[in-house]
Amino acid sequence: MSSNASMHGLWQSRWLFILAATGSAVGLGNIWKFPYITGENGGGAFVLVYLLCISIIGIPVMIAEVSLGRMGRQSPINTMKALAQKAGASPLWSSIGWMGAIAGFLILSFYSVIAGWALSYTLDMASGNFVNISAENSGKIFGDLLANPTQLTIWHTAFMILTLGVVARGVNAGLEKAIKVLMPVLFILLFILFGYALSSSGFGQGFSFMFDFDFSKLTTESIMVALGHAFFTLSLGLGAIMAYGAYMPADTSIAKTIIIVAFLDTAVAIMAGLAIFPIVFANGLEPSAGPGLLFQTLPIAFGQMSGGVIFGTMFFVLVSFAAWSSAISLAEPIVAWFVEKFKMSRTLAAVIIGFSAWLLGLATVFSFNIWSDVKMFDKTVFDLLDFLTTNIMLPLGGLLIAIFVGWKMSETKMMNEVGIDYPILFKLWRFTLRFLAPIAIIAVLVNGLI
Ligand code: PFF
Repeated sequence: MSSNASMHGLWQSRWLFILAATGSAVGLGNIWKFPYITGENGGGAFVLVYLLCISIIGIPVMIAEVSLGRMGRQSPINTMKALAQKAGASPLWSSIGWMGAIAGFLILSFYSVIAGWALSYTLDMASGNFVNISAENSGKIFGDLLANPTQLTIWHTAFMILTLGVVARGVNAGLEKAIKVLMPVLFILLFILFGYALSSSGFGQGFSFMFDFDFSKLTTESIMVALGHAFFTLSLGLGAIMAYGAYMPADTSIAKTIIIVAFLDTAVAIMAGLAIFPIVFANGLEPSAGPGLLFQTLPIAFGQMSGGVIFGTMFFVLVSFAAWSSAISLAEPIVAWFVEKFKMSRTLAAVIIGFSAWLLGLATVFSFNIWSDVKMFDKTVFDLLDFLTTNIMLPLGGLLIAIFVGWKMSETKMMNEVGIDYPILFKLWRFTLRFLAPIAIIAVLVNGLI
């Protein structure tokens, strides 16, 4: 079993690890992205493929990634270097850490811009701008925000400062304190919204949209999006959850803990979908509206609800918080590596990474307005960054993790580490890493890219 020390600190309990990992997993991916990609990819059949990807590939790879982190107890780059050396494998395996750190940095750059939308909506909600708003005007407010690079930059800047501020303070002082309060409140609010959607006239239609499986709507690209999103939503394949695993107490069962985290993450996504689609249908909106879906629909619901100003404000505060706790984990692998490699303070590392990601984020800001015509492969800068990281880099990272743990790490060592009590389940997990996950990921990537 792994040692019980990391230079960056340790989570104080299993419960805190669950909160932190859930804080990383639950974010814009669940509340903003899952509903709109479900809308763009035709609904039920996509949801089914996504759920299969989570359970068959996501959870086993997540257990593997966290185990690597806990065995290495360092930043993902150094963890992979050390473990590869110990296992007598090529030092090239540290590329898992490298590619992950780069992917995390790229995602952070655009994640911060979208999280900025949530900050901006918090203020709009609190000012009562959405009271009794029509679908048309709600769309207009969103359009106006995207058309305004200055506004977007201000919110992007604010979010980046918040994020790196916590990262600079480190595991115990920064991350734990923030997450402890936020996650439980987010769940409560989602329940309230779900209750509202349940009573709305569009509930039946929204429900069928999410759970009627019409396979004719499924394309190879949507399968690729579903797989990529399974990785994105579980914070998988880039070392974020590996970095968090490095701070996990040695006596906790990784497998049981991860199953809880994956369950909570999926529950939030499904609840967000069930809250949003009924409003989409009740108001004659398009489920395939794209990245604006959340921001155009929920304000309409809050606008009609009694107490909507308060609930709406709370909701966007919580979305911002969920994004915050995820963004922190995006920065963690690369910041931890800077600290180890250059012996610099966490604060300096956070400033350097934060500033660079902020600068790159401006490209995403402009892709919604002044650069909206700048396209490569028919994609804007934002679309391209999102596609490259989510649909390619994360699954590739997951593939390498599965192969490394399945083929390079000793079976006994893994058995002692992961905490799967039943030998047959352990065998099944290992089989998945050795064969099932790699074959599935390669098949989806190859098909999707051709
Ligand atoms: N899981 C986060 C979300 O769903 O919003 C995003 C994310 C965080 C992706 C950390 C990857 C990661 F390493």
